[in-house]
Amino acid sequence: MKPAQERVPMPDGGWPTAEAAAESRLFAPLTLRSGLQLAARTWVPAMVPWRASAEGEVTDDVLDWYGRFAEGEPAVLVVEATGVRAVASGPLLRIHEDRFVAGLSRIVDRVRAASCGRTKLFIQLIDFLPLKRRPERATWYRRFFRPEERHRAALRTLGIEPPSDLAALRETMLQLAESHEPVLLSPRELEDLRFGARERVTDTWNPVVRDLPRILPDAFAAAARRAQRAGFDGVELHYAHAYTMASFLSRTNTREDGWGASVEGRLKLPLAVIEAVQRTVGGAFTVGARILGDEAIPGGSTLEDACEIAVALARTGLDFLSVSRGGKFDDARQPRVGEAVYPYTGQSGLACMPVMHMPGGPFGRNVHLAARIRSTLRAQGFQLPVVAAGGLCSFEQMEEILSGGEADCVAAARQSLADPDWWKKMRSGRGHEIRRCSFTSYCEGLDQRHKQVTCRLWDRTRPDESTRRSDDGRRLVAPPFTV
Ligand SMILES: Cc1cc2nc3c(=O)[nH]c(=O)nc-3n(C[C@H](O)[C@H](O)[C@H](O)COP(=O)(O)O)c2cc1C
Ligand code: SF4
Repeated sequence: MKPAQERVPMPDGGWPTAEAAAESRLFAPLTLRSGLQLAARTWVPAMVPWRASAEGEVTDDVLDWYGRFAEGEPAVLVVEATGVRAVASGPLLRIHEDRFVAGLSRIVDRVRAASCGRTKLFIQLIDFLPLKRRPERATWYRRFFRPEERHRAALRTLGIEPPSDLAALRETMLQLAESHEPVLLSPRELEDLRFGARERVTDTWNPVVRDLPRILPDAFAAAARRAQRAGFDGVELHYAHAYTMASFLSRTNTREDGWGASVEGRLKLPLAVIEAVQRTVGGAFTVGARILGDEAIPGGSTLEDACEIAVALARTGLDFLSVSRGGKFDDARQPRVGEAVYPYTGQSGLACMPVMHMPGGPFGRNVHLAARIRSTLRAQGFQLPVVAAGGLCSFEQMEEILSGGEADCVAAARQSLADPDWWKKMRSGRGHEIRRCSFTSYCEGLDQRHKQVTCRLWDRTRPDESTRRSDDGRRLVAPPFTV
């Protein structure tokens, strides 16, 4: 029998009085290189809530989501990963055309009003590659499978004479036991069949993928310019997790056309994107990036790589570096038929969004990555602020991180979701009123199923007639705290 997992206690240490908060590092201001002044070191990192329209437009639900975070007055609020290219993908925000500017500016207005101007608003700019849902086995063989001579040869090794007719050959393959597939299909075909087809940055035979280094600097720059026109205080370039830019930076990027393989090759596009963005928006507009302190996959980039990447990015004059971990497709769980593979389901996903029941618990478990990156930067004379994230949820814990020089800002995603007012409560000496995240990742499960993200704890507060609900009856907005 497996031994019962010991539950890690929630970090405590008590909450500060209003006077102690005013003296703390957490609530000390910070000025970025761009000149932007942050009122404190408190940060709500990007979280996709699946609330945009199918076309990626801002909806009232999106406004409620960001307005509610702003009521808690974090120093920084980062709007969810927002697409810089027209790649199909559910109700995620978009910024790839000018027509999105007006809607995005409504988020800016809402956040300014709800936070009385205390919260600075960044938007995370993302590029991702097309991904197909896992197909029915028969559909894959009949529609997507491209028979080649190697498949015929493999069939002969099983003692089967392949039919010359293509449709008949597909049927022959389909009728065979699945256990033969590793012999008959290439690893890539097998993955397409079992997980759904997914483009990779290494697919240089695909003209669009081959051309990404030519397309993306302009796409990110134009998106950043739209963010600036919409009134955002800055942009965060999404160089983390499973997406295009992180894939270029990754050790798994074996492209041999100058845009991969060596560390210089892997850095070339991310640096070109920063250069294009900075040239377009000017030095007074904040430009930061989110990177991985560790890809947390076999053969992926490590903390050593991350330090090298951070130094190269710092040389460009970035305004901040936010550090995350993992969240890769490489070790994701096989999706069900009809669903898309989700990069937060494997070990690297757990590293990204750590949960209560994992050995060692979720609390502050990625801080050492930010700390090493920060000390490497400081040793080389770079002063750009580093943002830590992952299981941060108490005053004492965050104060220690800041005063120990492990990070310059502390980001809390799920704790801010559980109680968007928690920053304000801490600042005003009402910490005992905080609704604390249980780190079980119910919210992340909703994200995985592309359902509107909410917190399970919100539904413990009795709704009234005006309570906005999701189609399945969940509260869409965090309730105010009631004793
Ligand atoms: C529902 C949900 C959506 C997320 N979406 C994004 C995203 O769009 N971009 C991003 O960089 N991280 C995203 N994350 C990761 C968080 O920003 C954060 O790094 C992670 O949850 C760990 O922090 P925490 O322990 O404070 O929750 C998301 C997390 C959650 C729970
Ligand atoms: S659903 Fe659970 S993990 Fe997510 S914010 Fe709420 S309490 Fe935290």
